[in-house]
Amino acid sequence: MKKSIIVVGVQWGDEGKGKVVDLLSEKADYVVRSQGGNNAGHTIIVDNVEYKFHLVPSGALYPNVKCLITGGTVIDLAVLAQEIMQLEKNAVNLKGRLKLSSLAHIIMPYHKILDKLYEKSKGDLAIGTTGKGIGPCYSDKALRIGFQIGDLLDKEFFKKKLDIVLASKNSEIKNIYNESEMQAELILKELYESFDLVKEFVSHDVESDLANALDLEKKVLFEGAHGTFLDSTYGTYPYVTSSSTISAGVCSGAGIGPTKIGHVLGVVKAYTTRVGNGPLPSALSTEDLLHFMDNISAREVGTTTGRNRRLAWFDVPMVKKAIQLNGVSSLALMKLDILDMVPVIKICTGYTFKGERIDALPSLASDWEHLEPIYEFFPGWQQTTSHVKSREDLPTHAKNYLKRLEELCGCPISLISFGPERDKTIVLHPFMD
Ligand code: GDP
Ligand code: IMO
Ligand code: MG
Repeated sequence: MKKSIIVVGVQWGDEGKGKVVDLLSEKADYVVRSQGGNNAGHTIIVDNVEYKFHLVPSGALYPNVKCLITGGTVIDLAVLAQEIMQLEKNAVNLKGRLKLSSLAHIIMPYHKILDKLYEKSKGDLAIGTTGKGIGPCYSDKALRIGFQIGDLLDKEFFKKKLDIVLASKNSEIKNIYNESEMQAELILKELYESFDLVKEFVSHDVESDLANALDLEKKVLFEGAHGTFLDSTYGTYPYVTSSSTISAGVCSGAGIGPTKIGHVLGVVKAYTTRVGNGPLPSALSTEDLLHFMDNISAREVGTTTGRNRRLAWFDVPMVKKAIQLNGVSSLALMKLDILDMVPVIKICTGYTFKGERIDALPSLASDWEHLEPIYEFFPGWQQTTSHVKSREDLPTHAKNYLKRLEELCGCPISLISFGPERDKTIVLHPFMD
């Protein structure tokens, strides 16, 4: 049986993928990050220490796990260097077990500036990006004017190419946005300073190592970043990120075929959140919010930008669509504890759209703004779940809630999380055994 697993968010990101990846890494040989950049943010708590991951795979806390960052990612070298240093300060040594693909693209300083300028110029149509330069970096990759990590190995070539690309970037920055031009020398200096700090991790063999590991039936965990509805094709376009966030995107970013995957684990919150702009059909009403935990207590403040996440009820058509898009095998149901004290819990089972009931999402996200959610109501359990050891231990109403979600989504729950710590988890499937 294939032991490799893709962990993928089935909502709008921040589902708790980091916690799941950390937990499952105990048994993994490899953990792979294959798309996106430091727009991702995963928080993990172990022994009361909080770790924040942006680029390094969330399996890094287990010393035997090999961590691969593959060619589909976009890398801010200074952020990677800082993250590695921070982990080392916490006694997490990555030397010899972290590899960064020379194929990955570099987030250049002008990508970050242009990300912010594009956003500003959009006014109230702004996407609400993280401002990390993700969109401009991926678009330069598609335009074939991007820089790969491997390009840094030939300084002369790098400089030549930078002079050409920077001329057009500076023309845009100066002539369209009336901002100061950037200096090639300064860019090179900063890039090479950061590169020196991470050079030892750069490798031409990341993808072939991974292919060998899969051939040898090693236990490989693929850490999807962001969430299904941030996918650049199937998400709520244009309010999406610039990579493919679905399981197929994870495969393509890692350079592996889908037949290598044994299980696709869809990570889903017991409710829904979203950070940044764009539609959120089952958003909590002002009245609902009175009975919900505040953002800080619910740990619903963005790991990357510190923005409050918007809150919404569990949306069945959306999760069903995500199950289909990703080929989800089972669901990891996260953050059940946040509903512990909510008196009445709602599940969105369909919508009213143009006066008619619909049970599936319209394909164009611009229509999502006009959906009126239809809810099923559930009595809350109104007691803590913090002590439970098995699914049977859960309060009756919580058990019923989970059972109903499984029925409505047509997918089994294989993991239940009811707190940020590792021990606040019930694992119901023999992952990687
Ligand atoms: P990711 O981007 O999918 O990895 O998710 P984030 O780490 O950005 O956001 C999830 C937040 O919820 C983090 O602060 C986690 O520590 C926290 N978290 C994860 N699972 C649970 C849970 O079951 N209950 C609670 N209360 N917090 C959780
Ligand atoms: P993790 O991996 C939540 C959102 C941004 C914005 C949109 C585009 O932690 O789940 P970008 O900077 O990518 O161009 O921004 O995508 N976004 C995320 N939201 N979690 C994430 O990652 C996200 N990555 C991007 O807020 O709305
Ligand atoms: Mg996150």
